[in-house]
Amino acid sequence: MQSDSTWTGHHFLRETLYQDSKQKVEEPKTRVCGICEPNQTIISLPAPKEIALDPIILWDALENRQTIRSYSIEEINKWELSIILHYTQGVREKENSSHFRTVPSAGALHPFETRIIVNRVNGLKPGIYRYLPLDHALVREECHSGDHESVAKVCKNPNLFTTSAVSFIWTAVPERMIWRFGQRGWRYLFIEAGHICQNLYVTCAGLRLGVCAIGSYNDNDINCILGIDGESEFCIYMASVGKK
Ligand SMILES: Cc1cc2nc3c(=O)[nH]c(=O)nc-3n(C[C@H](O)[C@H](O)[C@H](O)COP(=O)(O)O)c2cc1C
Repeated sequence: MQSDSTWTGHHFLRETLYQDSKQKVEEPKTRVCGICEPNQTIISLPAPKEIALDPIILWDALENRQTIRSYSIEEINKWELSIILHYTQGVREKENSSHFRTVPSAGALHPFETRIIVNRVNGLKPGIYRYLPLDHALVREECHSGDHESVAKVCKNPNLFTTSAVSFIWTAVPERMIWRFGQRGWRYLFIEAGHICQNLYVTCAGLRLGVCAIGSYNDNDINCILGIDGESEFCIYMASVGKK
């Protein structure tokens, strides 16, 4: 008999065992990521390839990656935000209807949306924005309840948000995975969120910015602020970034 403390995990593992026959080939008509409404103004970001980055040694970036929880009041630059978005969810290659990004994704399905809370980014007004990977651009959004500052309150350590220059909120849209991989797709969502945040850590190490992954937050409250139902789309991971 399993104890209550292990039931949820074991149930999840059983329900998401790999079953080849569960792979489907017909794509559903779910919206692809980063679609904007016709009335939204697209805010373009500096093209990553045109940004002259200081060369860094990969091994150093991996070695120096660490969590930083307090940030200076200095703002970060739009080009730094552009680089971070590119290396966490940016598109590196388009091929017919598929596109490949700087992070791996099962079936190249990329089931996430990226929202950012801007506090101090040169050239961007404070607020909440959504990233459009295919355009490498942002659109301004409204919070469904409260404002962008309310996001701090959902986090166990609100200072991570209030003192950051910019914070990242990744939401998952399970249907973008499940249509193809069945219940197994649920595992991939969580694995892939880890890829994104690891790229954020390594990119910030390269840019000498501080970063902190955030898993302690009230799920219902953040979903409510974003205006998502917590089922067809839910917040899967967050992170804060700022100058050290
Ligand atoms: C899944 C995950 C969730 C985390 N959630 C939080 C969090 O809510 N608050 C926080 O201060 N740090 C959080 N962290 C950061 C860890 O505490 C940090 O990685 C750990 O202390 C090790 O430090 P290092 O990243 O410098 O190696 C999280 C890290 C991971 C991987």
